[in-house]
Amino acid sequence: MYDLLKGKKGIIFGALNDRSIAWKVAQRAHAEGARLVLTNTPVSLRLGQLQALAEECSAKIVAADATSMDDLNALVEQSLEHFGGKIDFVLHSIGMSPNVRKSIPYEDINYAFMQKTIDISALSFHKMMNVLYNKDAMACGGSIVALTYIAGERAFPGYSDMADAKAMLESVARGFGLKFGRKCGVRVNTVSQSPTLTTAGEGIAGMSDMYRYADKFSPLGNASAEDCADYVVTLFSDLTRKVTMQNLYHDGGFSATGLTEEVLEAFSRGL
Ligand code: NAI
Repeated sequence: MYDLLKGKKGIIFGALNDRSIAWKVAQRAHAEGARLVLTNTPVSLRLGQLQALAEECSAKIVAADATSMDDLNALVEQSLEHFGGKIDFVLHSIGMSPNVRKSIPYEDINYAFMQKTIDISALSFHKMMNVLYNKDAMACGGSIVALTYIAGERAFPGYSDMADAKAMLESVARGFGLKFGRKCGVRVNTVSQSPTLTTAGEGIAGMSDMYRYADKFSPLGNASAEDCADYVVTLFSDLTRKVTMQNLYHDGGFSATGLTEEVLEAFSRGL
């Protein structure tokens, strides 16, 4: 460990269980010396295992539905009070699509569900930053990170309206990055992560094949949740102070690959 986050204070959204990417980020941030507030929906707190993580990381838990401005206002106020000062970093690790959950095909999408997908998976990022900005809650040079997937930029089967939500999430990072940078050097970035076997990940149709394909298509292989936590911690640290408004690929090289020999061989064997 490097004490990269020594003395820093952060809010982590979206740890549900020990497979969640946010769970790994919380563990890694704690190991690097950060103090944490962990948050998730009241239902997730009941069903998940957040209490165990909070004990491990000596963290405070605050329940909040990230689509509710009231909940977000209360969360930020309680966090400021708990920390006795401003917030250095925030992780948005939230995604949910009722259309994906119910396996509704993209071409026949349910629009009420789609609004929910967008609200939970993208607008929540805007709402969260709206509250942080208007309460002047971020410390100078702070860092805000949201997790995304390459389906926000390129078409992938099975990702359905989550792709639309991710495209919006990445755009919101740029929009708020422009504002936050001038406020006090606060960075806003998205990390585009490899397919990862988590509760949300496994909800995507064909995930296990997609996971294996991406692994063969990436020169470094898929990045795990633990690898993602390592990367996110560098973005929270002072070592990346001039990186903002970027969609940063953390995918073992998948996004820059045209074809790999392994995929070509597998394809020719299959024919
Ligand atoms: P996860 O299922 O462990 O985490 C998703 C979290 O979103 C859960 O903790 C859930 O309670 C929370 N959530 C849902 N609705 C919410 C709401 N209204 N308010 C607050 N929280 C809410 O799965 P995972 O994979 O760790 O997902 C984290 C992030 O990583 C998501 O944004 C996901 O899209 C992204 N991601 C995941 C990949 C994967 O293959 N698993 C790949 C690339 C990005």
